[in-house]
Amino acid sequence: MCRKLPIWLVLQRCLLLQGSEVWVYQPPEQRASPGGSMLLNCTFSATPKASKLAVTWVRRAPGGSGEVQIYPPSSQVTELHGRIALDSGRFRHQRDASLRLANLTRHDAGLYRCFIWTSATSSHAGNGTELSILGEGPGSGVRHWAACGPLGVVAAILLILHARVCRE
Ligand SMILES: *[C@@H]1O[C@H](CO)[C@@H](O)[C@H](O)[C@H]1NC(C)=O
Ligand SMILES: *[C@@H]1O[C@H](CO)[C@@H](O)[C@H](O)[C@H]1NC(C)=O
Ligand SMILES: *[C@@H]1O[C@H](CO)[C@@H](O)[C@H](O)[C@H]1NC(C)=O
Repeated sequence: MCRKLPIWLVLQRCLLLQGSEVWVYQPPEQRASPGGSMLLNCTFSATPKASKLAVTWVRRAPGGSGEVQIYPPSSQVTELHGRIALDSGRFRHQRDASLRLANLTRHDAGLYRCFIWTSATSSHAGNGTELSILGEGPGSGVRHWAACGPLGVVAAILLILHARVCRE
């Protein structure tokens, strides 16, 4: 009995080590357009026995220093309410903690980090995804015309002058 004890200890240590080997993968950057929706990817490895699995997402605004929890939704962060969702089935069964963001605005840009909790006190963070909101939002066509306006007038004047010079 006494001889078996060390073996048991070694086995137990192996199991503990395996349990702590959790990696969390997030793509370094993702892009989306204003008004659209997207999936902020986060996948992880965990032992099947990680029955206390939980996920939190935090966000750091561009140029900001602090990270704010956005999932599970916190009462301080209201601008994302109703626009974020996480598929709990995929989280439990496919080790996919990706977060869906809907109705994106430029203010949603920032660094998003995914934390996987394997117990109440032990979490593993992804490296974070830098989200850029690019492209044209609704109504930005007007700004295009405004920018084109003066150039359009100049082009028209040049065309008329050119036509006159060529005729003479
Ligand atoms: C996170 O970043 C570190 C340092 O750049 C890198 O070594 C590591 O592989 C990254 N982890 C993942 C899961 O991408
Ligand atoms: C995010 O995950 C989806 C579905 O799993 C995949 O199709 C897509 O290529 C991933 N995007 C990135 C940037 O990893
Ligand atoms: C997104 O915006 C549309 C139109 O403004 C609205 O009907 C819809 O409920 C919004 N969806 C979410 C998830 O906020």
